[in-house]
Amino acid sequence: MKAVLVGITLLAFAGITGLGYAGGPSMKDLNVSQPERDVLSGRVIFSTICIRCHGVDGKGGGQLKFTPPVADLTSPAIQGKLDAKLFKSVHDGKQNTAMGAWREALTDDEIWDVLAYVRTLAPEQAGGMGSGLR
Ligand code: HEC
Repeated sequence: MKAVLVGITLLAFAGITGLGYAGGPSMKDLNVSQPERDVLSGRVIFSTICIRCHGVDGKGGGQLKFTPPVADLTSPAIQGKLDAKLFKSVHDGKQNTAMGAWREALTDDEIWDVLAYVRTLAPEQAGGMGSGLR
């Protein structure tokens, strides 16, 4: 827990000082100071590719069913994950699940855009989690 707090503090600090741009690859991986993302483009990607499994509202009510089941993208379990973690899941896929790797089909920018859209699927009452990438 302490490590998490330190991480959050570091992220906040780097965000304020703009260190994200000056820092090395590790800072970049932390996804500090992401530029504005194109939620609209993310939405198009989502409704072209991801909707089949994740459903129109991201809750997993798509046409296709799997074991393990499709993740509910609106749930605290998913929305509570950091951007870098979600990026990795989409980029590399999740082993032994139907969630494939999208790094060949989508550019990094497109993955960030679709994640920005996924963030908008969070319920508003979940502490403002619907307000973009974190
Ligand atoms: C073939 C079905 C399928 C498609 C298409 C699909 N997903 Fe998934 N997705 C899954 C399943 C199944 C899981 C749950 C994996 C698990 O059990 O950890 C999942 C999990 C996820 C998660 C949670 C990852 C985590 O860290 O737990 C995210 C985010 C996600 N998908 C985003 C997307 C996005 C964005 C797209 C479109 C580019 C997409 N998915 C396309 C089936 C799919």
